[in-house]
Amino acid sequence: MCGIVAYIGQKQAYPIIINGLKRLEYRGYDSAGIALLNNQQDLNIYKRKGKVSNLEEFATGKDISGTIGIGHTRWATHGEPNDVNAHPHFSENGDLALIHNGIIENYDSLKHELLKAGYTFRSETDTEVLVHLIDDIQKKTDVSFAESVRLALEQVVGAYAIVVISKNNPNRLVAARKSSPLVVGIGTEGDFYLASDATPIVEYTKDVVYLNDMEIAIVDRTEGLKVYNINSSEEKIPYIQQLELQLEALEKGGYDHFMLKEIHEQPRSIRDCFRGRLNVAEGWVSLGGIKDYENKLIAAPRLIMVACGTSWHACTVGEYLIEDLARINVEVEYASEFRYRNPIITENDIVIAVSQSGETADTLAALELAKSKGATILGICNVVGSSISRITDAGSYTHAGPEIGVASTKAFTAQVTVLTLMALMLAHKKGTISESKYRTLLAELDAIPEKVQKVLDSSDKLIQDIASLYSKATNALYLGRGNCFPVALEGALKLKEISYIHAEGYPAAEMKHGPIALIDEEMPVFVIATQGPSYEKVVSNIQEVKARKGKVVAIVTEGDVHVKAMADQVIEIPKTDEHLVPLLATIPFQLLSYYIAIMRGCNVDQPRNLAKSVTVE
Ligand code: F6R
Repeated sequence: MCGIVAYIGQKQAYPIIINGLKRLEYRGYDSAGIALLNNQQDLNIYKRKGKVSNLEEFATGKDISGTIGIGHTRWATHGEPNDVNAHPHFSENGDLALIHNGIIENYDSLKHELLKAGYTFRSETDTEVLVHLIDDIQKKTDVSFAESVRLALEQVVGAYAIVVISKNNPNRLVAARKSSPLVVGIGTEGDFYLASDATPIVEYTKDVVYLNDMEIAIVDRTEGLKVYNINSSEEKIPYIQQLELQLEALEKGGYDHFMLKEIHEQPRSIRDCFRGRLNVAEGWVSLGGIKDYENKLIAAPRLIMVACGTSWHACTVGEYLIEDLARINVEVEYASEFRYRNPIITENDIVIAVSQSGETADTLAALELAKSKGATILGICNVVGSSISRITDAGSYTHAGPEIGVASTKAFTAQVTVLTLMALMLAHKKGTISESKYRTLLAELDAIPEKVQKVLDSSDKLIQDIASLYSKATNALYLGRGNCFPVALEGALKLKEISYIHAEGYPAAEMKHGPIALIDEEMPVFVIATQGPSYEKVVSNIQEVKARKGKVVAIVTEGDVHVKAMADQVIEIPKTDEHLVPLLATIPFQLLSYYIAIMRGCNVDQPRNLAKSVTVE
C-alpha cells in the first residue's frame, strides 16, 4: 500500500527510482511522483495521476538528472488520486520533499497548528502536514536535517514509512518507519537504496537492513548508514541480511500477466512449500520454524487464527483440517474485528497470524494485541523478513516466492499447504490420527503438485469456454461445504476483485436461507461437488438451483457422471483425499476469474481501488 523508493550514490537516480516504482506498482497505482536533486542543487519534482508510465511520459524532456532522489507510487487514503495529492509533498520554499506510506492520524490537529503558523496547504493529504512540520522545526531551531525529522516524528500519531530529501543536504537522505515497512539496500559502491520492500533493491544489491519500528535512518554519501531510535536518539547497530530473492521471480516470464504466471507456478510453489518438511518414505512431517512450539500447540485449549481477505479463507480451511485431524479447537478471526472487540486472550492462547505480505496493518495489530496479553504469537507469512515474521515468537514461511498479481493465488495454496502440514504434524503428535490414515495423507499431499499440474493442463481450454458463457454476468454465487466452503468464498472474492462482477460465497446448505431468492436463468452458480461425505447433500443443492432455472457450473471428481447429468458445465479435478480437495478445487476458480476478467477488459494484475499490501487499517 503505497510504494517508496529512494536512491543516493554515484549513479543517476531517475532510472533506478522509475524502475523501482514499476516493481512496487502492485502496492498502489493511482498516482506516482519523484523528486530529484541535481548537481546545481535544484530540487525537481514531477507528479502525475495514474500509473508510473504516466509519470515517465510527463518527465520526458525535463531535467531528470541527479544522483539522489525519492519516488512514490500511491494508494490513496486521504484525498482523491490527482496530480496535487500525489507524493512527494514539498515545503513552501521547495527546500524539502517527502514521500510517505501510512496514515498520520493526528494530522487535523497538526494542520490546525501549522495553519495558525501561516502555512498554506496545497493538497488534501495527511502527508503534507509532515513536510511543513519538519520545515517549521527547521525554521524555529538550528537542529540538523535529521534531527528536525526526528523531532517532527515525535509529534506524529499514526503509521509511517517516510523518506525525506533536502536541497540543503545534498549528501544524505533521512528515512524512518513506524508500522509501515522500509528496507535499506547497501550498494557496492557506497550507494544506498531505500524501498518499501526488497523488490526494487534486489537487482542492485543483496545486502539489506530491515528497519525496525521507531527507527530513523540516515544514509550519507560519506558517513554511510546510521540508525537511531526515534524517541531516544540512541544509535542502533544495523543488522545486515542477505536477500534470497531472485530477480527472475519478479518478471512475468513469458506470461501475459503476473496472475496467470502465479496460477501456473502452483505445482512448483506447493512443492517448495513442503520441501524438506514432508517425507513420505520415512513417514514424517516437520515444520522446523515452529518445532519448539509443538508441545504447546497440542496442549493449547484453542488456537486463534487472525488474518484478512484470502489469508482468512486459508485459515478457515486450516480450521477444518486442524479440528478434524488434530482435534484442537480453532477460532478464525478477521484481524480487523479481533483487534477492536476486546477479545478474551490468555497466556495459554496461541495466536497464529496468516499473511502473504506479512505487513497487513490489521493482522499486525491483532498480533501485537495478543502479545500484550501474554499469548504466544506465531506467523505463517510469505515475505521473508516482513514485519509479522519479525514480531512473532516463531513461524513458518510459505515459500511461494514473490506474488506480484494483486489477487492472491499461489500464496493461498501455499498457506493451505502449510496449514495442512501443521494439521498433520499436530494430529500425529497428538495421536488423533491412525498411522495408516497419516501415511495416506502424506502420500496424497506429496501427489498434489502433479494433480494441480493436471488441472492446469486439462481444464484451461474448457475454462476459457465457460468464462465466455458467463463473462457478462452481473452476479454469481459460489457454493461449497465443509473445507470447500472457504474455497467458495475465495472463488467469489477472486471473481469480484478482478472482474468487478458481484459474487458471493456461501455454505451450500445456507443457500435456501436467503440467496436462493437471487437465482434465475441469468445467475451462474459455481458449486464444488467433489466426492466426499457431503457429496449427496451438494447434489441436492444443485437440484435446488436447477429447479429455479439457475445455471450450474460444478467442480467434480474425475469420472463423475451423476452431477454431469444435472449441471450445465462440469470441470473435473483428480481424485484426492477429501482433506486435500481445497488445494485442487481452487485452481479452476482462479483460472475462471482470470479469463472472465480478461474478457471484460479488466486489468487483472492491478484491479481498481486495490493494493497488494494493506498497510493501513
Ligand atoms: C485477495 C487478497 C487480499 C489479501 C489480504 C491480506 O486476493 O490478496 O484479500 O489476502 O489483503 O493480505 P496478506 O495476506 O498480505 O495479509
